[in-house]
Amino acid sequence: MAIETIIFDAYGTLFDVNAAARQAASGDDFPELADAWQHLSADWRTKQLEYTWLRAITGEHADFWQVTQDGLDWAMERAGLSGDSLRERLLQLYWDLAAFDEVPEMLKALKAADLCTGILSNGSPEMLSAAVKSAGIARHLDHTLSVETVGVFKPARAVYDLVGRTFDCDPAQVAFVSSNGWDAAGAASYGFVSVWVNRLGLPMDRLPGTPAHVLPDLVGLPDLIEGL
Ligand code: LAC
Repeated sequence: MAIETIIFDAYGTLFDVNAAARQAASGDDFPELADAWQHLSADWRTKQLEYTWLRAITGEHADFWQVTQDGLDWAMERAGLSGDSLRERLLQLYWDLAAFDEVPEMLKALKAADLCTGILSNGSPEMLSAAVKSAGIARHLDHTLSVETVGVFKPARAVYDLVGRTFDCDPAQVAFVSSNGWDAAGAASYGFVSVWVNRLGLPMDRLPGTPAHVLPDLVGLPDLIEGL
């Protein structure tokens, strides 16, 4: 079946989740971040994701903005960092998160090839719309889908169902692109043609579902899709 629709995970795949702490550390306002930002950012991401999985298991859903704040609070405490102005600066930078450099051109190439494009993300609709706007990529996306529609986080199958409901297509006609190994595995298990963007050179996750394709970044995605 020919691929007609390309769906992207948002955070880590299109948007650089480390950009918030990196940017906050680059100015003069928060010297305490100079040595701490990398660990802070890694802990923030790990806790944010753990909280999504745990809330999905227990059925105690809260939206991704809440989970993002909870993850940051844990990470700041572990790093011995405190202060409302630092917390607010990091959250504001996360709200307007930068896209990876290759993203606008890559999306433009997919649209030029007449493909449908969209985001399917844990992010709340408000977070996603802010990030899409600040990255200037809205015109290259047909739909931005949030898990808030179903009230549970990825990799629940109810989330992946949103793609077929929105684009009226079979999973085999969808390429699902994620930098999160567990999300790429979940999408493969669901039946999408899964593309894992292994930006960090990590081992393959030992989970049900194996991504059909692995790329180092998004630069080669249009060529990969064209060749399928
Ligand atoms: C997302 C998270 C998983 O955008 O990165 O859904």
